[in-house]
Amino acid sequence: MSNTPQFAFSFDTLLDDIAEHGYSIIENALPEQLISDLKKQCEAQSEQFQLAKIGRHQDLQQASKIRSDRTKWFDGTTKAEQDYLALMEEIRTAINQSFFLGLFDYECHFAIYQQGDFYKKHLDAFRGKSNRVFTTVCYLNTPEQGGELLIYPEKGKTPLAKVSPTAGTLICFESERFPHEVLAAASTRYSIAGWFRKNNSSANFVDPSQ
Ligand code: OGA
Ligand code: MN
Repeated sequence: MSNTPQFAFSFDTLLDDIAEHGYSIIENALPEQLISDLKKQCEAQSEQFQLAKIGRHQDLQQASKIRSDRTKWFDGTTKAEQDYLALMEEIRTAINQSFFLGLFDYECHFAIYQQGDFYKKHLDAFRGKSNRVFTTVCYLNTPEQGGELLIYPEKGKTPLAKVSPTAGTLICFESERFPHEVLAAASTRYSIAGWFRKNNSSANFVDPSQ
């Protein structure tokens, strides 16, 4: 008997938001037990997290001016990771069915932001140069001021949304369309950033190598 956890929301909300705005922010999207297991895994494995690079060609020193978080890619070896990946697989299928997209896989990493850590305004993918189509971010924290995600419009400096990194909140947005930024964290901040990808043989840029 399968005990795959269930989403706590209807996909229609997510799909309608994406169709209308290109992004969706859903609070309490994931089961509390799963969020708690994922957070425990981050805490237990925090020594294994590494400073993140940006793209394939930048060195760590350059990258540290842009982001100061540490990341660890999923390897699918824990039950919590498997459950999370199973849920993202459901979203991948739903997006493919709704928008006739050939998203073929999903990759994600945990990220730890210590107090003061940030990720300056950036895009996860540049048009025609990446196979990242949709970004997801899921949060694992108790609500606090600080460490919010700002989502910006394609052009313009006024954010469209300010997202608190509160446990269970899931966001999804078009990777090429929305610059975004993580404000300095007030205390240790955990998230899972992931990407639904298309198979694009011309993609030779941007996607960080794992
Ligand atoms: C990223 C990212 C946002 C967040 O890892 O590319 O933008 O809120 N993360 O953790
Ligand atoms: Mn990003």
